[in-house]
Amino acid sequence: MAAVSFQSVSKTYPPSRAQRAHGNPGLRALEDVSFDIEEGEFFGLLGPNGAGKTTLISILAGLSRPTSGHVSVHGFDVQTHFADARRQLGIVPQELVFDPFFNVRETLRLQSGYFGIARNDDWIDELLASLGLADKADANMRQLSGGMKRRVLVAQALVHKPQVIVLDEPTAGVDVELRQTLWQFVARLNREGSTVLLTTHYLEEAEALCNRIAMLKRGRVVALDRTSELLKSAASNVLRFKTDAELPWELARHARITGRIVQLPAQNALEVEQLLSNLRQAGVPVEDVEMRKADLEDVFIDLMAGEQTPLEVAR
Ligand SMILES: Nc1ncnc2c1ncn2[C@@H]1O[C@H](COP(=O)(O)OP(=O)(O)OP(=O)(O)O)[C@@H](O)[C@H]1O
Ligand SMILES: [Mg+2]
Repeated sequence: MAAVSFQSVSKTYPPSRAQRAHGNPGLRALEDVSFDIEEGEFFGLLGPNGAGKTTLISILAGLSRPTSGHVSVHGFDVQTHFADARRQLGIVPQELVFDPFFNVRETLRLQSGYFGIARNDDWIDELLASLGLADKADANMRQLSGGMKRRVLVAQALVHKPQVIVLDEPTAGVDVELRQTLWQFVARLNREGSTVLLTTHYLEEAEALCNRIAMLKRGRVVALDRTSELLKSAASNVLRFKTDAELPWELARHARITGRIVQLPAQNALEVEQLLSNLRQAGVPVEDVEMRKADLEDVFIDLMAGEQTPLEVAR
């Protein structure tokens, strides 16, 4: 049985009153999303801002209702068997929400109580140690930095030892050291049998951790495959150079541009030659030219390229 099953999930956010007055029918955030996550998988859900990732996770968490379709966790429908489904899930939300009046340990005890677990301090201590929070156990939530609050959210999601761990941007605003600690810990839980669903904008994290990946674009699944297969589907090489000039649109739309650094996909030597000749013709001077192997970010950019229409409204 699948750990998580999304069946034809669509979601339209209704228009606000002002939007309705202008004939706006609302926003189609998800469109017929279907896929299963098998038990024990480390699954990545990727997509640009506004693609629908958090909406899908809110529906999985039972916090938001789909307009149509069904979601189940280990066979429990998240709407008709909410409590059973919820108990299987540990969800780290994207937004930092917490009660400022409690300290870290109290926050975790309260969360344990919410799941009916009375004496949980051994596991709470292990969570605190694994997430680098041991010395903050008695600190008030208000006294924590942003990254530390996020660690508490992770601990909170795990207090009831859920079988399915859902992480919505867990490493946003988190320093390099904690990211490594966090991934070591989550990878251990995954090895011990937990299923993991992760959304992240750090594609190198997804590439390193996830065995399978779904990519969402404007509410639709545009890619769903093993990470290794997705990597094979990319142009195998990338031409990288520096320039101060602006690239023509035809090249820019396929490029990964970070300040002066430009990276363009290329299958083979012939394509590299073609690109360099196009750049010369467009009068773009290039320096420090080099080649490297393609990675997941290249696949992502390839899939997300295309017409940049505004978000579609419901039909
Ligand atoms: N409560 C809401 N009411 C109306 N529209 C919403 C609501 N929540 C999200 N949306 C819209 O639905 C779309 C999908 O948003 P969502 O938060 O699911 O994206 P996301 O993939 O999680 O993006 P990000 O990477 O920025 O977290 C966006 O266009 C967003 O503006
Ligand atoms: Mg989101």
